[in-house]
Amino acid sequence: MTALLIKGVRPYGEGDPVDMLVRDGVLSEIGPNLAADGMRMLDAAGLVALPGFVDLHTHLREPGREDAETIESGSRAAALGGYTAVFAMANTDPVTDNAVIAEHVWRRGQAIGLVDVHPVGAVTVGLDGAKLAELGTMAASAAAVRMFSDDGYCVDDPLIMRRALEYSVALDAVIAQHAEEPRLTAGAQAHEGERAARLGLAGWPPSAEETIVARDCLLAEHAGGRLHICHVSSAGTVEVLRWAKDRRDVWVSAEVTPHHLLLTDERLTSYDPVNKVNPPLRTAADVKALRSALADGAIDCVATDHAPHAPQDKDCEWSQAKPGMLGLQTALSIVVETMQVAGLLDWRGVARVMSERPAEIAGLADHGRPLEVGEPANLALVDPDARWTVRGEQLASVAGNTPYDGMELMARVVGTVLRGRVTAGQERIAG
Ligand code: DOR
Ligand code: ZN
Repeated sequence: MTALLIKGVRPYGEGDPVDMLVRDGVLSEIGPNLAADGMRMLDAAGLVALPGFVDLHTHLREPGREDAETIESGSRAAALGGYTAVFAMANTDPVTDNAVIAEHVWRRGQAIGLVDVHPVGAVTVGLDGAKLAELGTMAASAAAVRMFSDDGYCVDDPLIMRRALEYSVALDAVIAQHAEEPRLTAGAQAHEGERAARLGLAGWPPSAEETIVARDCLLAEHAGGRLHICHVSSAGTVEVLRWAKDRRDVWVSAEVTPHHLLLTDERLTSYDPVNKVNPPLRTAADVKALRSALADGAIDCVATDHAPHAPQDKDCEWSQAKPGMLGLQTALSIVVETMQVAGLLDWRGVARVMSERPAEIAGLADHGRPLEVGEPANLALVDPDARWTVRGEQLASVAGNTPYDGMELMARVVGTVLRGRVTAGQERIAG
């Protein structure tokens, strides 16, 4: 029997510090001054305990682009960021559009053991949007795939989207849409607006996202399927989601990334491709709408869209650079800054958007659970008073493309526990 005593922690940042006793991966006692009886102790004085985070949107790049990230390096980044489960997107090389690759990713994640790595299956073969992949075989595989997405690309054919949503019902799965009408974003390099115009960059209009979200909500209503909208970036999409959730009988959920909660297209003026991301950084008005939507539930959760890229794909001209930025190790700090310090979410709210809702959306029964006796010991331990400066080269990812390089952030994950095993913050253990 393995036991760990977490000393002096404040669950959800509430009340006086307590101890949490973990036995065999389960929270077995919570209370003040629990007897240590010579067991291993983790010093958590001053820390806030939250349920381990769940990321519905991570690019781990393996197989195929191990020069940007591997399942191992990405798992380490996830653990250091407070995550206990991540969903690895299907745009690998070869594409995760079949059970063999899905099982490979799942098994690699299990063997590394730092975070539960759930492969996302592609909706269409090769992500080419033309032919449905074998969703049922992936769902029935050892990886038990329950989320499907062509992320990086939009499933733009409405008939294919309709069929995928129909299948999602029988498979108890969710279809995660990268909402981008490709005919409206051909050649697009940045948010369509004054800044892009001044720099001579082709624009990516918010309506390219909004039209697909509206269409897919109607298709999901018709098919009865489960729709999840990836990386919502515009105020208009928030309006569509409110309409779908309040006025129609649509099973739709949505995520927002930390970078869309913090950064705007003002970043374009530096012309540094580290700020290039898809969908693009938008306006201050969009950021404001995204924050309030996350606070009131119109947007359900935070997902990182952690997108490592090798130096040659980022340290180049803007138009040649690949879109995407690192996110796993900085997500909590950005959410604290944009939502918690701003008074829009308390720690329980942070737990809701980083752990509980994403676990529910993905159907994970053992993550995002309340911090109560009898529940799995999946925890993120946060130092709420930390101040730290991000250094891209010090992050665990193989790639270093973080837009926060050199920035001082507040609050930091300093420990992570996965089913009772300490996956980050081992230096705090004594005994
Ligand atoms: O910025 C992005 N990067 N957006 C996507 O949709 C794909 C991702 C990637 O794979 O790099
Ligand atoms: Zn995407």
